Amino acid sequence: MEDLFYKNKEQITKIVDSFGVKILPNKQSDSVFYSKYRKFKYDLELEKIHFDYAPQDVDEFIDEFGDFFENVMNFDAPGVMYNVHPNPNIYSQVASFFSSLANPNFCMDLPSGKLLLIEKAVVNYLNELAGWDVEKASGTFTFGGKGTLLYALKIGLDKANPDSQKRGITSKNFIISNDLGHPSHIEICNWLGIGEENCIRLKTHNAVISVTDIENAFVSIIEQGGRLPLIILNGMTTNNHSFDNVKAVKIIRDKLVKKYKLDYTPHIHVDSVLGWVYLLLSRYDFEKNPLEISDKTAVILQTKIKAASQVKYADSFASDFHKTGYCSYTSSVFLIKDKKQLFSIEGKYSESKNMVFSEYAPYDYTLESSRSPHGPISAYTTLKTLGAEGFTKILANHTDAYLYLKDSFSHQNNVVVCNLEEESNLLFLAFKPKKYLNLEITEETSQTIADEIKEFNTGFYSFILEKSKKGKLDIFFSCSRSYKYRGKSYGCIKIYTFNSHLDESTAKIICVRINQLFNEYTNHKKEIEAHNFFDYAEIKGLENV
Ligand SMILES: Cc1ncc(COP(=O)(O)O)c(C=O)c1O
Repeated sequence: MEDLFYKNKEQITKIVDSFGVKILPNKQSDSVFYSKYRKFKYDLELEKIHFDYAPQDVDEFIDEFGDFFENVMNFDAPGVMYNVHPNPNIYSQVASFFSSLANPNFCMDLPSGKLLLIEKAVVNYLNELAGWDVEKASGTFTFGGKGTLLYALKIGLDKANPDSQKRGITSKNFIISNDLGHPSHIEICNWLGIGEENCIRLKTHNAVISVTDIENAFVSIIEQGGRLPLIILNGMTTNNHSFDNVKAVKIIRDKLVKKYKLDYTPHIHVDSVLGWVYLLLSRYDFEKNPLEISDKTAVILQTKIKAASQVKYADSFASDFHKTGYCSYTSSVFLIKDKKQLFSIEGKYSESKNMVFSEYAPYDYTLESSRSPHGPISAYTTLKTLGAEGFTKILANHTDAYLYLKDSFSHQNNVVVCNLEEESNLLFLAFKPKKYLNLEITEETSQTIADEIKEFNTGFYSFILEKSKKGKLDIFFSCSRSYKYRGKSYGCIKIYTFNSHLDESTAKIICVRINQLFNEYTNHKKEIEAHNFFDYAEIKGLENV
C-alpha cells in the first residue's frame, strides 16, 4: 500500500513509465484506434470486472487498465478527422497532472496556493485580446461549453429578473438563439427553468443571423409582456464557421431598451467556444508576414480575425480549450465584460484591487464548489508553450490544408463538396454512386435519390469501421445525417479535425487515402454491417443544424 501514495520523484517517474509501457505502444501516428475496432457488448464486458476485497497487484492492474484503451480513438493521428477534437499539448497534460497531484480545490486560494492565480492570468489575457478593460472584466473556468452557456443564461436571468435569486422566476422569459446554434442553447432553457419551448431559434441566412429578425423577435417578446434575458450569437458553430454581427445586434438591443423604457438590458453572449482562437491570431503581423503565410490563406485568416474581434461588443463570450485550444477535456472558460454581473450570482462576492493571498474565493459565485485545476492549468500551459505564434502557424497550415482538400475534391466527379463556398476548416462530402455520377444535386432532387445517396455515404462510413475490425487503419471521419445540402440529407462524410500536424502535405496524403478507401468500398462485394453513428443534432431532435 505504501507505494500507492507519494514518496518521492523516482516513484512518480517509475509509475508513469509502467503505464506508458503498457499503453503507449498502441498509440501510433498511423492508427485510428489504440486497438482493432471491436463491437463489444457492455453486459459481457461488465461481467468481467470485479472489485475484490484484497488490493490488486499494481502490475496486473496496469495490464488490465491498459486493455480499456480498446476502441479508444487516437486523436494524435492526423488521419483521425472525427470532429473538432485536438491532440492535446503534452506539456498541458503533464502540468495538469502535477497540479492535480498537489490536489488543490480551485474553489479558493488557500488550498490551491499560487496555482489559482493562473486562472486569473488566463482570464485577463483572453479579456485583453477581446479588447475589454481587464480591470472591469472577469471570467471563470467551468465544465464545458454547455457550462459557459449556463453562466450566460444565469447572468441574463439575474439582470432581467433582479429579485429572482431570492423569489425565483415569476415572469415569462425567452431567449433568442438560431437554427445553427448548438443544441445546448435549447437545453439550458430546460436546466434553468424557463422551458425549451421558450428558446427562439431564428433562421439564419447564409449562416448568419439577421439583425432585423432579432429586432422583430425582441419586439414581439416585449409586446407579449415577456422578458428577454439572453441573446446568443454565433462565433463559429459546430458545422459552419461563420460569425454573427455582434455590433449591429448590440445597437438594435440598446435602441429597443431605450424605446420601450425597459428596466433591464438583455445580455448578449457570443457562443465562440470554437471561434475564440482567432483572437490569438490578431497578434500576428500580416504586414511583415514572418511565417510566410500565403496571400489566399492570409486573407481568410484576416477575415476571421476581424469577425472574432466583434466579441468586444458582447457582454460575454466563451473559449473551449478542449476544442480549438489543444487541451484535453474539459477546459472551458466563460468571459464577462462586467465582473460585477458574475460576482453577484450568489449575491455577495467582491474583490478589492489590493487583494492578498487568502482572500480569493471564486466558489462564492461559481456553479461548482469543488473545482478542478485541469482547465486553467492546461489552458495556461498551452497558451504559453504554443504562443500566439504557434496557434497562427497551426491555423495557417489548417487553412492551407482545407483549401487543398476542398479544391481537390471539387475536381472529382464522384463527390460534391457541399460547403465549398464557405470559408471553413471542415468539409462535408456527398459521394455519388456510379449511376449518379452525372447527377447535379439540386433542391429538386427527389427524396428517393437523396435517400439512396445517403445510404451510399453512411455505407462508406460503415465500411471504414468494418475495415478497422480487421487491422490498423489510418483514416477515420464522421458522417452526418442531420447536415442538409440543398434542403436534404445526403449522409455527408464530415472531414473535420483540429490536429496540430495537419498541413497541406498531410492533406494530400489524406485525400489520396480517402479516394483509395472509397474505391475499395465501391469494389467491396460483401454485405457491410450498418454501423451506428452518433449524430448529435439528430439525437437532440434538431432539424436544421
Ligand atoms: C458552438 C458550440 N457551442 C457549445 C457546445 C457545447 O460544448 P460542450 O460539448 O463542451 O459542452 C458545442 C459543442 O460542440 C459547440 O460546438
